[in-house]
Amino acid sequence: MRFLKWASFATALLATTANAAANATANAEEPTAFDITIQVCASCHGQDGASGIAPDYPNLAGQNARYLLTQMQMIQSGERPVPLMAGQLDGKSEEELLRLAEYYAVMPVKVGRSKEESLDTGMRIYRGGIMAKGVAACSACHSPTGAGNAPAGFPVLSGQRFDYVVAQLVAYREGLRNTDADYGGMMRGVASRLTDTEIRAVANYIQGLY
Ligand code: HEC
Ligand code: HEC
Repeated sequence: MRFLKWASFATALLATTANAAANATANAEEPTAFDITIQVCASCHGQDGASGIAPDYPNLAGQNARYLLTQMQMIQSGERPVPLMAGQLDGKSEEELLRLAEYYAVMPVKVGRSKEESLDTGMRIYRGGIMAKGVAACSACHSPTGAGNAPAGFPVLSGQRFDYVVAQLVAYREGLRNTDADYGGMMRGVASRLTDTEIRAVANYIQGLY
């Protein structure tokens, strides 16, 4: 009698353990909320964070986490309007945004190619600025290789896409990317003195920079 009781207890215990194991497997295969979010992001920014579906969609791969977090907070609050991302970041906590930032920050940067045309002009602007107009050297904040400055939250520019960079520099110049006076203000000051031709030249240089 005693033995029987023990045997059925052991069987029940085994069954529970087996069930728990089966559940664990099912959970491991079931996508988490984070996985689902990432798939949505990937539909525009690419699975590798650097093959966005349109040339003016930014590469996120290898961007520093501090910059990514700051931009996501600005996009979430509407300070930086990105209509295509409307609702994507709604209700996400700072912790969740940081997790997204860190996810992209560790991916390898993807570098494109610069065209020969205007490459020298672009390189000169990037490395030395335009003294006559008081345009600071891009390399001073974004580093000579485009690696940015992670502690300061200055973005990586290496390999960033030509169309996206042109659009952003125009947006800063026209006051359309009108974020934080101290932080975004640095770029509005720089871009306000750049012509379309200079913007295209430096964007061409950046696309192949690493
Ligand atoms: C429907 C397309 C689309 C989806 C989905 C999308 N994005 Fe974006 N995202 C964009 C576009 C377009 C821009 C650039 C907007 C601009 O020109 O200012 C952008 C900009 C960004 C930026 C700023 C990059 C920079 O270099 O300043 C970050 C960060 C970002 N997205 C993260 C995300 C994350 C994380 C997700 C998923 C939760 C996501 N995006 C989903 C289209 C999308
Ligand atoms: C004094 C420092 C400083 C200098 C000089 C500077 N930048 Fe920036 N740059 C920044 C900061 C800070 C940001 C992020 C600002 C924001 O939130 O919009 C930025 C953002 C950018 C972006 C947007 C990146 C993205 O992923 O959306 C581009 C493109 C850019 N800079 C290009 C340039 C170019 C080209 C030059 C030289 C002509 C230059 N920068 C000079 C500090 C600087």
